[in-house]
Amino acid sequence: MEMEMEQKLSSVAKRLTSSPIQQLSYLAERCNAINLAEGFPDFPAPSYLKHAAISAIRSDFNQYRHVQGICDYVAHQVKRMHGLDVDPLTDIVVCCGQSEAFAAAMFAIINQGDEVILFDPSYETYETCIRLAGGVPVYVALDPPHWSLNPDKLAKSFTGRTKAVVLNSPHNPTGKVFTKDELEIIAGACRTWDILAVTDEVYEHITFDGERHTSIATFPGMQKRTIITSSLSKSFSVTGWRIGWAIGPACFASAIRNIHVKITDSAPAPFQEAALTALRSSPEYFDALRQDYESKRDYLTQVLTKIGFQIPFTPKGSFFLFMELPQTCTLSDVDFVEGLIKQAGVVAVPGRVFFHTDSSQDDLSPTAISYHRRYISSRP
Ligand SMILES: Cc1ncc(COP(=O)(O)O)c(C=O)c1O
Repeated sequence: MEMEMEQKLSSVAKRLTSSPIQQLSYLAERCNAINLAEGFPDFPAPSYLKHAAISAIRSDFNQYRHVQGICDYVAHQVKRMHGLDVDPLTDIVVCCGQSEAFAAAMFAIINQGDEVILFDPSYETYETCIRLAGGVPVYVALDPPHWSLNPDKLAKSFTGRTKAVVLNSPHNPTGKVFTKDELEIIAGACRTWDILAVTDEVYEHITFDGERHTSIATFPGMQKRTIITSSLSKSFSVTGWRIGWAIGPACFASAIRNIHVKITDSAPAPFQEAALTALRSSPEYFDALRQDYESKRDYLTQVLTKIGFQIPFTPKGSFFLFMELPQTCTLSDVDFVEGLIKQAGVVAVPGRVFFHTDSSQDDLSPTAISYHRRYISSRP
């Protein structure tokens, strides 16, 4: 009977399984293990922010709500960080985290069969959103160990059906920050093929070694074809508050807003109020955030290298270490992580959840295939 009913699921839903990262998190909880798998920061939200949220609830900000001040602050931030002019009244939409902003962006731009280019490895939710919207993900492999972009591979991935490219920089899981040259190559391709860029910039404030985040929207001809998505989640350790946004030309922002209103109506009202306080944070707050993660990165890299992990690529941003298992270790990524949970009480992510070779358009050589089973990701 249940089987019969299952047939009524949409074909996309049938293909969806719960995320391996979620499954590992549940296992970690059951085993009381230390969870270095899920992408949430490991520090408490700043107390001034928590007070702002508590005060908003006490003041009865409990109904559906659009807090325009968030858009005003985000517009200031975009001007300060990137020199871009965006109209806070028309070009910004407050959503339930980057996740909803990205999903709504996909629904806003994808027609059945449109192709969307993604870089491999990649954060797992993009593909689901693209498929739910009727699109087809097309993966371009970044080359290990430095996860560099091969312009020829990118050029080969475009077809007449390509609608957009998704760019996540700083990058989960590798910690890569796309170089200016790489961004220029991607921007050039977007202009040549007249396609959109949809960015995920949730780690915009977490960059290392003096490097600063650059949005592809700042490249010539790109602002009009870029939808930026981001959120408070990672910068303020409030992944459960669900406050994020999409920024783009008014026609896209308006479509995203209409979709957002139909799906969730509004982001949580008290946390939108508190977001105003977060977005007023001093530059020192962001400096301290960067320094803290940079020192954690350095410490963990040193310790793990000492015991044989191969980390030829030092992350330049985000808060993940994507490392290759020691040469002496013959286990696969999944077997290694299972052992880690059972023997050490620590959960990391098997690298394969980020790789998508099956749907990749690239011809991967046999040596390249093996690295898909040899990496694990951990939060420092
Ligand atoms: C690259 C990336 N984008 C987006 C998210 C989710 O962001 P949000 O909490 O704003 O939905 C995560 C969370 O792990 C992430 O790693």
